[in-house]
Formats: sequence, C-alpha cells, structure tokens
Amino acid sequence: MSADKNVVVGISGASGAGLALETLRILKDLRIARHVTVTAGAELTIRHELGAQARAEIHALATHDLHPSDLTAAIASGSFRAEAMLVVPCSMRSLAAIAYGTGEGLLARAADVTLKERRPLVLVAREAPLHEGHLEAMLKVTRMGAIVFPPVPPFYSGLADLDDMNRQIAARALATAGLDPEGHLRRWTGCPDS
Ligand SMILES: Cc1cc2nc3c(=O)[nH]c(=O)nc-3n(C[C@H](O)[C@H](O)[C@H](O)COP(=O)(O)O)c2cc1C
Repeated sequence: MSADKNVVVGISGASGAGLALETLRILKDLRIARHVTVTAGAELTIRHELGAQARAEIHALATHDLHPSDLTAAIASGSFRAEAMLVVPCSMRSLAAIAYGTGEGLLARAADVTLKERRPLVLVAREAPLHEGHLEAMLKVTRMGAIVFPPVPPFYSGLADLDDMNRQIAARALATAGLDPEGHLRRWTGCPDS
C-alpha cells in the first residue's frame, strides 16, 4: 500500500450501495488506504440492496472502518492528510448536512474538513426527481467547492451488467476526485463505426 495516500469514503443511505462496494474495490486495487464511515441509513440500504455479506465485504475492504459518531477519528481533523473524499452514494440528508456545515456525525464532519482544506469532495448524489431544496443544496455545495456527481450510467461504454455499470460509475467518480482509476475506467476513444 502506498503509505502516503489516503482516501475518505462516506457511505450514506441513498440507494446504490453497490457503488460504494465498487469504489472500495478499485481503491484497494490502486493500493490507496480507505478510511470508511457508514451511516446508520447506509447500514439499512447495504443490507437491503446487497445483503449482510456485502456489509462484511465493505468492512474487509476498509483499511479503517470508522463509527459514524466517532468524531475523534483522524478524518475529523484537517491535519490528517487525505487526497480526497467521496460520499458514495450520497443521500439528500447527507447532502443537506454538508451544504449547511452541520458537522453532525463523522461523515458530515469529514466532508466539512475536506471543504475547508480545499481538497476534492465528490458527492455521488442519488435521488429522483429533485425538488428545489435538493437543487439549492447542490448549488450551495458546488459554490463551496464540492463536485456533485449524480450516478449516471455511461450507456455508451458497453455495460455488461449491474456490477460493470457500478464499476464504471465508481471509476469516473474517482477520476473526478483527481485519482487515476487506471484500467478500471473504460475511456471513450471515438466511435468505431465512424
Ligand atoms: C431502500 C432505501 C432506499 C433509499 N434511497 C434513497 C435515495 O436514493 N436517496 C435519498 O436521498 N435517500 C434515500 N433513502 C432514505 C435515506 O436512507 C434516509 O433519508 C436516511 O435518513 C439518510 O441518512 P444518511 O444520509 O445519514 O444515511 C432510502 C432509504 C431506503 C430504506
């Protein structure tokens, strides 16, 4: 593992727990340390969407699996060096907590720290349709320096199945956070028919 590379992964209770799993699998393959915090909402969605085994895999993939209320964790301080933070998937509740800097819970605190330290913060915000409050929160975090990255599938990239789709979205989110997902991202090289 590269000793000096850390990434923070907040997993919140939006649908799309498989996106978190693929993000962690890629980060592990890239040998980047993974500081993970799973909200109480995400504990439910992970089990509902993927089953108990997936929660065990997330725990195993995390180099640090941090309790959501542990505000003594390293990632709660700006003096801890991390390359970036992703919230994947990001619920509207967590989005609002970040937008309004509540610092309530480790995920919101770590995101606040990421913003104040001017480090990349990518929010894989998942909800549809969106009301004005959601859109306002998205605008607010964008103005504060975060990147709102809805988990939109790259339909053009020859997606094989749901896992492949999640992997391609996760790889793009990591690239947006300034990390190189290497061979995990299938890049567009032009249309073979033209
Ligand atoms: C199966 C399931 C799917 C959900 N999907 C979403 C979603 O896509 N987006 C969202 O904002 N909330 C969704 N929710 C609701 C959140 O889990 C809920 O608002 C929770 O309080 C979020 O808190 P957290 O951000 O601390 O995880 C879902 C809940 C369940 C049980």
